[in-house]
Amino acid sequence: MSRLLLVSNRLPVTVKVEKDSVAVVRSAGGLATGLRRPHERSGGLWIGWPGDVSRLSDAQRSRVEAQLAEQRCVPLHLTSSEVNRYYEGYSNRVLWPLCHYMLDRIPRQDRDWEVYRKVNERFADLVAKQYQPGDIIWVHDYQLMLVPGLLRQRLPEARIGYFHHIPFPSSEVFRTLPRRDELLKGLLGADLVGFHTVSYVRHFSGSLLRQLGLDTDVDCITWEGRQVRVGAFPMGIDADAFDTLAREVGVLEDVASVRRGAEGQRLLLGIDRLDYTKGIPRRLLAVQRLLEREPSWRGRLRFVQVAVPSRTQVEAYATYREQVNELVGRINGQYGTVQNVPVHYLFRSFNEKQLAGLYRAADVMLVTPVRDGMNLVAKEFCAARPDDDGVLVLSEFAGAADEMRGALVVNTYDIEATADAIEQALKMPEAERRERMRGLRAQVKAHDVHWWVSHFLGRLQGLPTVSVNRE
Ligand code: UDP
Ligand code: G6P
Repeated sequence: MSRLLLVSNRLPVTVKVEKDSVAVVRSAGGLATGLRRPHERSGGLWIGWPGDVSRLSDAQRSRVEAQLAEQRCVPLHLTSSEVNRYYEGYSNRVLWPLCHYMLDRIPRQDRDWEVYRKVNERFADLVAKQYQPGDIIWVHDYQLMLVPGLLRQRLPEARIGYFHHIPFPSSEVFRTLPRRDELLKGLLGADLVGFHTVSYVRHFSGSLLRQLGLDTDVDCITWEGRQVRVGAFPMGIDADAFDTLAREVGVLEDVASVRRGAEGQRLLLGIDRLDYTKGIPRRLLAVQRLLEREPSWRGRLRFVQVAVPSRTQVEAYATYREQVNELVGRINGQYGTVQNVPVHYLFRSFNEKQLAGLYRAADVMLVTPVRDGMNLVAKEFCAARPDDDGVLVLSEFAGAADEMRGALVVNTYDIEATADAIEQALKMPEAERRERMRGLRAQVKAHDVHWWVSHFLGRLQGLPTVSVNRE
């Protein structure tokens, strides 16, 4: 039996050090949450960064290593300079904004490329060390774009897949990157390169043609004597797990308590990492606009926004946090009363059970990123609604909008239109809500994460054996 080796920057668990205590907690973010259960099922290994362990004593460190080993996680430890230059630097100051069309956020000087390349090499070395003939290697996301190519040099016969969890931008945007060719060639080390949507596939093919002069024949590229396939594989979630969770007695008690706290009010919900791609300020402005233009909603809306701390050492995230804080304060100052405020802003993370409770309690879920590869929160919300109720307002700039036709799809750059969509959701008749939610749930269940994994791996395994041109 071939083993599955998952390779990603972040492991499904992260080491958190607070004062003297050390905890190994579940990682947030779609890649880690989504792949966690397929990893549990596969019996293979997951190779990645467990977070900063530099301040741990030897005893603490060996306890952490044992916990990781129990979960079949193989840690790759990063030095603080690597965290700063590879993770925060090239990955999150350059590639993240680039792929999300935010060129003005990229620093003028490209100082961190060398460290990005070196850490990608460290990943490739560690994977090659763990590799046994017959294993399938599945590399994930923009932090590791060079790894497929580096692995191909080390393991010419290996079966290698790559999945890009964030948007792949138009070639007009990608071509601005000084290292565009190296990154494209890195990806071409894989046998199969997957994206969430057909548009991202087209953008990638466009870049291959423009930068490397490679013509994609439907879904196949010939590169260095090998065939590389490309395809759209929209990622799903563990829909059954959320469905089951949302029916649990403990969760239903949480739902009742949230609803009691918001008696006489309609509940709007937002759940995101605190990331400038998530469109939180525009969402707040849309809620503010609704309260401004429709005084009858004042006092009758409660907007719960969960913002999970993320990449806090990157300046753009700190500035964004301040911007959001300021807006929340402004809206609550303007429309709050002694009894109540419209925006309940929670800057922390929640576990799955708590999330399920919030999803099930909400009247309207607001998923309005300015750009998002897929957005799994939108799918989790639907899976957590066995009551077939609740309305999803979804940005057309999230990959999920391609599939989730029952949502109210909005252009998040249009604040008035977003306010309209929120109002439409609030006023939607029950029969329409149920019909839309039933369709959404069927879609989310039929294309869950297990379907996604078997669809991608089925394709990867079904490809003809790698023929390597050794000339
Ligand atoms: N999430 C979490 N704790 C929280 C909030 C969110 O574990 O407090 C999870 C959420 O359940 C989802 C993931 O983080 O699975 C976010 O994935 P998404 O694709 O929506 O966005 P990303 O963070 O990957 O950009
Ligand atoms: C997105 C990215 C993932 C990343 C996650 C959380 O989902 O696609 O690769 O793991 O955000 O971000 P972080 O920087 O904390 O790993």
